[in-house]
Amino acid sequence: MELLEAIERRHSVRQYLARPLEADLKNRLDEMIDECNDLSGLHIQPVYDEPTAFRSPMARYGRFEQVSNYIVLAGERAEDLDERCGYWGERIVLQAQQMGLNTCWVGMSYAKRAVPVEVAAGEKIVAVIALGYGRTQGVAHKSRPIEKIADIGGDRPEWFRRGVEAALLAPTAMNQQKFRFEYSAEGVRATTRWGFYSKVDLGIAKYHFEIGAAPHPVRWL
Ligand SMILES: Cc1cc2nc3c(=O)[nH]c(=O)nc-3n(C[C@H](O)[C@H](O)[C@H](O)COP(=O)(O)O)c2cc1C
Repeated sequence: MELLEAIERRHSVRQYLARPLEADLKNRLDEMIDECNDLSGLHIQPVYDEPTAFRSPMARYGRFEQVSNYIVLAGERAEDLDERCGYWGERIVLQAQQMGLNTCWVGMSYAKRAVPVEVAAGEKIVAVIALGYGRTQGVAHKSRPIEKIADIGGDRPEWFRRGVEAALLAPTAMNQQKFRFEYSAEGVRATTRWGFYSKVDLGIAKYHFEIGAAPHPVRWL
């Protein structure tokens, strides 16, 4: 499955089958996460076979069921930490989709205190990604009209429009889609209005944009 196909197929899934992840699959996830940590400097950690973080009232309220695998996105506190977690976390989400798994980004609906990972002094947990074999494949979210998030008329190149379309398929907290993309001859400027987790959303959307625009490389301004 190509990454663009993974983008089209991915939808948040909150209810999972009891089926555990195979050892081989866990190894592949571990390798992919190690690579992301090496490239990003983040401290992303997988947690397998641990159901308590998603047995909390918050998780039940969010209608999460049988989540026992999740990936913790953490890193040293920094101005751009949220955006980097979004960008690298979504890379993991799409690769998981390619492996036949389902996922859901989670900022609120879990018990952070129950998460058994090491968070060093100066580090912060930004969000987690629930993953496993979904009971369903989820459903497509509603999107804002493309004109609301970018001006795609005039002399805008084809790759810019493809990038914006891929960004509209990105998961965002409460489906808020507060981001905007602006084209210029020098590159692309991506911005976001304020909202809960909107900087995480921005990182996710930028990763989608790059995949949509490929093979044209994106110069971010
Ligand atoms: C940063 C972030 C945080 C999220 N937090 C939660 C959450 O706490 N609870 C929840 O049920 N869904 C959460 N979501 C999932 C969004 O509700 C979902 O991505 C959005 O409605 C779009 O749907 P889709 O992912 O199926 O395309 C979060 C998504 C993102 C990107």
